[in-house]
Amino acid sequence: MASNRSLLILPGDGIGPEVMEQVRRVVGWFDRKAVTFEVEEDLVGGAAIDAHGIPLADETMERAQDADAVLLGAVGGPKWDDLPFEVKPERGLLRLRKEMDLFANLRPALCFDALVEASSLKPEIVAGLDIMIVRELTGGVYFGSPRGIEDIGGGERRGVNTQIYTTSEIRRVAAVAFELARKRGGRVCSCEKANVMESGVLWREEVTKLHAESYKDVELSHMYADNAAMQLVRNPKQFDVIVTDNLFGDILSDEAAMLTGSLGMLPSASLGSADATGRRKALYEPVHGSAPDITGQGKANPIATMLSFGMMLRYSYDLPAEADLVQQAVEAVLASGRRTADIMAEGAEEVSTEQMGDAVLAELEKLSA
Ligand code: IPM
Ligand code: MG
Repeated sequence: MASNRSLLILPGDGIGPEVMEQVRRVVGWFDRKAVTFEVEEDLVGGAAIDAHGIPLADETMERAQDADAVLLGAVGGPKWDDLPFEVKPERGLLRLRKEMDLFANLRPALCFDALVEASSLKPEIVAGLDIMIVRELTGGVYFGSPRGIEDIGGGERRGVNTQIYTTSEIRRVAAVAFELARKRGGRVCSCEKANVMESGVLWREEVTKLHAESYKDVELSHMYADNAAMQLVRNPKQFDVIVTDNLFGDILSDEAAMLTGSLGMLPSASLGSADATGRRKALYEPVHGSAPDITGQGKANPIATMLSFGMMLRYSYDLPAEADLVQQAVEAVLASGRRTADIMAEGAEEVSTEQMGDAVLAELEKLSA
């Protein structure tokens, strides 16, 4: 393993910077204990718009391409809501995903024992929940053309987006899902709307074909995405790995996040293909957004971003023991009853963003003593 692990941190907007401040402390903790990181920081989203007039500078894009991994906070906020579409904060994030070709977005929904009560669902429905959503991230309606808004005369306008998938786009993300399932519960559920969309028919056919060719040891099922949304709240534990397209994955992963109690708990990893040396481009980010309503109040939950750093240790740096350590530290803090506002429960102790950082660092110390 190379001794210099380069890491580009992009805190972004809203609660992004405040949660990232706590995660930097965790990165610093590992840095002092054997794993050395070369950390750089840069701007994305509204912060980049304010500095450069665009949501991602070319120079930042280059740095992201060169880094071993990128850790992003969140983008967007009311301040930039009225900007033209092409320069909105979200375009910065979408450009990173597209140009780094991060087609596989891994969103694990894990219900921590201590948080069973934080879910809006009954404890028995979510206790022990452990599902992995694999969302296709660089295709589909997010990037398909034609797209746009046009005048069609008579005071009418038309908005157009295109859902589009090719064989190889479907196969490469399905392969990631099958590979993950082999290391987990051995089951993949593929979700689309083959009942109304040709792209869904193709999706189902290609996933089925790949399964028959290379992954017969994995159990494959198919589900319409609307049914999957319903099944996720009815009986989420029926799922192991879910693989789905960009838009359905966006929706289903928010839903899955809430099963675990709070959006503030869910990490994600976005991965590209492995190059000749086995290296994958990668970006890690919490599933939650910039949460302008609580920005600057010390209420934000830094755990999703901490766990995203944990995923980075696992997938980019091949440090599974260190990744486990992050997760164990978070579990210990939750078990001790400390909670940020979003996961607050009766009898628990409410802590600020920074105090949550203190608590996780203290547990890391204890666990490694
Ligand atoms: C997500 C977010 C993004 C998306 C936004 C911020 C562009 O909702 O990562 O899920 O739609 O992909
Ligand atoms: Mg989303």
